Formats: sequence, C-alpha cells, structure tokens
Amino acid sequence: MGPLVIGMVGLPARGKTFVASQMSRYLAWQGVRAQIFNVGNRRRALFGAKVPHGFFDPSNPNGMASRREAAQATMDEVLAFFADGGEVAFYDATNTTHSRRSWVREVCSQNGIQVAFVELSCDDNDIIERNIRQTKLFSPDYTGVQADEAVADFRRRIDHYSTVYEPLGDGDPAWVRLVDAGRQFILTDPERVIPRRLTDYLANLSAVPRTIWVTRHGQSEFNTSGQLGGDSPLSPAGQRYAHSLGEFFRPRPVSRVWSSTLRRARQTASALGTTHSPRRALDEIDAGVCDGLTYAEIAARRPNEFAARQADKLGYRYPGGESYADVIERLDPMVLDLERTRGPVLLVAHQAIIRSLLGYFLDIPREEIPHVDVPLHTVIALHPHGPGYREERFPLDPRL
Ligand code: F6P
Repeated sequence: MGPLVIGMVGLPARGKTFVASQMSRYLAWQGVRAQIFNVGNRRRALFGAKVPHGFFDPSNPNGMASRREAAQATMDEVLAFFADGGEVAFYDATNTTHSRRSWVREVCSQNGIQVAFVELSCDDNDIIERNIRQTKLFSPDYTGVQADEAVADFRRRIDHYSTVYEPLGDGDPAWVRLVDAGRQFILTDPERVIPRRLTDYLANLSAVPRTIWVTRHGQSEFNTSGQLGGDSPLSPAGQRYAHSLGEFFRPRPVSRVWSSTLRRARQTASALGTTHSPRRALDEIDAGVCDGLTYAEIAARRPNEFAARQADKLGYRYPGGESYADVIERLDPMVLDLERTRGPVLLVAHQAIIRSLLGYFLDIPREEIPHVDVPLHTVIALHPHGPGYREERFPLDPRL
C-alpha cells in the first residue's frame, strides 16, 4: 500500500489524534507499515510545552514562523519514514487552511507520494468540552495549570484557529469528512486515492465507548487429548466453565453474544441464557492436514511442517489450511462489525482467533500475535482506553 499521506484536518479538540491512532492501529494490524506524525509533539520539542494561546494567533508572525518550522520538521520525518519503506503516514496537525494543505500536497507530489485528507468536523459543544477535559488537560501543555484556566486557554486557542479555518472542499481532491463523531460521513475521492479498507473502517467507527468481552470456549474433549481443531463437544470441566460464565455475566449484561459455529463454542455460549449468533469468521484457525493431530504427532509425522511453523508462526500456512496472517485477514470484517456495535459484546471463540483480535485491540506487533497467552477458562475484558483498549483478565472456575 502507499506511499500515502493522510493529512488530518480540523479545529483543535475534534478528535484528530484519536481517529488517526485508530486508523494507524488498524492498518498496522493488517500488516501495513503505518505511523502517526504529530506536529504538536514536534512543536513542544522545538519550543517547549508551555506556549500561551497567543502563539496560535494567525496575526502573530513569530508564532506563525515557529508553527511552520514544526510543520516542516514533522514533514521531514514523514519523508524519512517513506525512504525507509513506510507505506501510510498520518500527518497529524490541524491543516485548517488551503495554503497549508496545498503545501502538504506540493511536498508530497515532489516526492511521489499521494495525499488524502480526513477532516473531523464537530460543532457539538458537549463533545468538544468532553474532548478538552478528557485529553487536553492531560497534555504537557497544561501540566500544573488549574483545570478551568486550562480549558479557558484552550478555548482561546480554538478561537484563533476558527478565524482562518477553511473546511475541505473543491480544492481538495481526495477527502473524507466525519461529522459529529460518526453522525455523518462524507467521501470525495474521484481518483480513488484512499484505500477502500480505510474508508470502510472510518464509516464504521462508532464514537460510543464500551467494553468488549472475549473468551475461549470451555475445555473440549480435543483439548483434553491435545488434538488440534476438530469439532468435539465440551469436556465435563468445559461444561462447568460454561456454567461459571453464565454466572459471571448475570450481573454484567451484554447486548449481544457472538460465538464461532463450532460445537464447543456454541455449547459454551448457550450457557449464557441469551440468544447468540454463530459466526463462521470466529471459527478456529484451520489446521488443514494437521487437523485432529497433536503437536507431538505433527513433529513426528511432518517434521518439516512443524519446523516451518516454529520458524514463522505468523506467516506459516498449514497445507490445506490457514496461517495467522490469513486469520487476521478473515477477521477484518468482524472488526468493522465490532467497531459499529454500540452496547457491550461477548465473543466466544478460540485461541488463534482471540490472539488475532487482541492484536488489533491491544496494538500488539503482528509477529507477537501468534504467541500471546490466551488460556482456557479466562474471560478477557477489553475496556476503552484512550484511542485504544486495555485488557482485564478474569480466570473463572474450574481453573485449568
Ligand atoms: O489447541 C487448541 C487450539 O485451539 C487448536 O484447535 C488450534 O490449532 C490451536 O489451539 C491454535 O494455537 P497455536 O496457533 O498456538 O497452535
């Protein structure tokens, strides 16, 4: 993919960094070399964190010169990233004027890089106030400053930008506008510069934070014998886990339950007493010719396959089956579905599936995903945390 620069556009406190981080995390999970370049961080490194709101006044020539310097220095980092094989760079600044956006396009076209813009537009005062209080007050710009004073200063900063703000329009060929945190989505991209997977992702982003719950099925008969795959039912211990799961969720209602289509997952999900939807995308990694074997049998009968998987667990594809990279691709539409749901969701799935999903939610480097510890009989809560998630684990009885 790429080389592509996605320039973020919008007044301060509209969630640009938040959405850029989400897009970057999503693309990285899909194996794209993506990175965010934040001009504010560069500005703080060059001129210190504590600049008064007047620094951002467009009629202040010193402030304007310093801000151009920070923009240029950040663009230099972007170019270095592409020289090093980078694919998608999120140029995270306000980029609120035509002239700034023309400059971005000019530099990029001189370097053979395509450009698109993603604008976050929001006039909902509650959302803006929440963004300021939840993020800006914790920025190094306001350490040690009393909250109300910081909010007032930040609002003056927004006012400075508002006087020169020129929303995206005819002069900007490829762009997406997200209005009021997901209420409206506008796409203008006649040249098809923006990858479809990114526009699909943006169109599905929901601004409503909620917990996502995941668990492996209870212990299956194949688990007790160490066999891979198959479609065996729960063992007696697995049935007891299913019961514990039902108890665990009684005081924690979820709005939907998705399981895989495999027997062990459906049996586990049934214990919740609510209807659940079996989804093939959640089925365990397909071990192909190794399905039904134990790891010891694979090592003895197919030593080359065993060694190849150990050498590259992410890329290795079982003959007639799947690799982790395949599983991640298969889960892509599921992640979009999860992003658009609003209430808490519980997924009852399998080891490789949950590892792959955790890779996305917890921003785990792809090579590490196949090795993440996901034990049986453990519920994992994914709580919204900044632009990502943090996990909380609950081992339930019977513990294995
Ligand atoms: O052993 C349980 C299981 O879910 C198998 O069905 C599956 O092949 C395996 O885990 C995936 O884990 P790994 O990728 O570590 O082999």
